[in-house]
Amino acid sequence: MYISRRAEFSASHVCRSVELSAEENLSLYGPGANANGHGHNYVVEVTLSGTPDPTTGMIYDLKDLKDIMHSEVVDPMDHRHLNFEVPPFDKVVPTTENLTLEIWRRLEPHFKQGPARLHCVRLYETEDTYVDYYGK
Ligand code: NI
Repeated sequence: MYISRRAEFSASHVCRSVELSAEENLSLYGPGANANGHGHNYVVEVTLSGTPDPTTGMIYDLKDLKDIMHSEVVDPMDHRHLNFEVPPFDKVVPTTENLTLEIWRRLEPHFKQGPARLHCVRLYETEDTYVDYYGK
């Protein structure tokens, strides 16, 4: 069984790979490569897997999941410029794919033990586009 929780944060980024030239970045990312950056209202959905506890009837306490999502993702990223304020995005291009991977890395240690496992991180960059990551 799966249980999910959603949270939102707003962040700026520049999509620019240090391994590409200015022309290549502009060609690949378009206006997203503009050095001034631009913002997104990201929506992250975190899904845990597990079995409801026979006593509590719950897979995982959603208040605890909210606290973890806020301490690991929302608080460090909300109203930040990802490239300048949120490692590793000083070195790694902050595409939705890489941001999803980083969110997984931050959350997964919390679910190595205990009743639930991290199943999926879904990150919407826009209403129409999102990335799913299920781990390795
Ligand atoms: Ni963007």
